[in-house]
Amino acid sequence: MKNEVVFSCEDVHVFVEDKEIVKGVTLEVRAGEKHALMGPNGSGKSTLAAALMGHPGYRVEGRITLLGEDVSEMSPDERARRGMFLSFQYPVAVPGVSVANFLRAAISARRGEEIPVREFRKLLTEAFAALDIPRSFMGRYLNDGFSGGEKKRLEILQMMLLEPVFALLDETDSGLDIDALKVVSEGINRVAGDHMGLLLVTHYQRILNYVRPDRVHVFMDGRIVRSGGPELAHELEERGYDWLAPEGAAVGGAA
Ligand SMILES: Nc1ncnc2c1ncn2[C@@H]1O[C@H](COP(=O)(O)OP(=O)(O)OP(=O)(O)O)[C@@H](O)[C@H]1O
Ligand SMILES: [Mg+2]
Repeated sequence: MKNEVVFSCEDVHVFVEDKEIVKGVTLEVRAGEKHALMGPNGSGKSTLAAALMGHPGYRVEGRITLLGEDVSEMSPDERARRGMFLSFQYPVAVPGVSVANFLRAAISARRGEEIPVREFRKLLTEAFAALDIPRSFMGRYLNDGFSGGEKKRLEILQMMLLEPVFALLDETDSGLDIDALKVVSEGINRVAGDHMGLLLVTHYQRILNYVRPDRVHVFMDGRIVRSGGPELAHELEERGYDWLAPEGAAVGGAA
């Protein structure tokens, strides 16, 4: 339903061993909304995204909900079944698992029942065409030998097929050429209708010309330090991040 809160997190802190990387993030995303998260290298954006999805390598404090349900203690798999989707900044290769088999298993898991072969073929054919991916990719092993841009397209293809409730896209635009950026953006817009919420991590304003955000959040040193409308992304492009750095914070975060 439009305007329904699809995702929320409240005072989320993320730790790797004893190091606090994310230092209290509160965010609410409603159905039909697109949010952009922008911030310097090493500020903790990917850590936040992975932790929200339930990555076992992090200790997480705070509350995370999906469609009002607390998912904070759930495995990534359970979160995915409930409609959370994460597209990785660096998708990994899975030799031995074909794209088609992987997708069929993922869709079946999301639906809670096997997708019939004919329906699957039809969905896949449409999605491959929409994202301009050659059909020959179906039989290839997942991300194995794929170029950077091909991996990113495949991530969006997964999102199209899984129809998430809330999608986290981590730098889906990095490594895409100009034509691919348009194709991928169209794919994102096609899926992100009135029912889904989107959080797009990006370094560049460019993708936001195609995927228009309702809200832009600036992330520095583990925190959202400023939120605003789309104009904020333009301002960042012109001015960089320094002017928003909290007193005493190390820009770049890696100190
Ligand atoms: N498993 C880990 N062990 C040690 N340090 C980690 C781990 N995961 C993340 N970090 C550190 O946390 C900080 C934030 O990393 P993260 O990848 O979240 O940044 P980012 O904002 O996504 O940066 P970029 O824009 O370069 O993608 C970095 O200093 C990184 O080295
Ligand atoms: Mg990152």
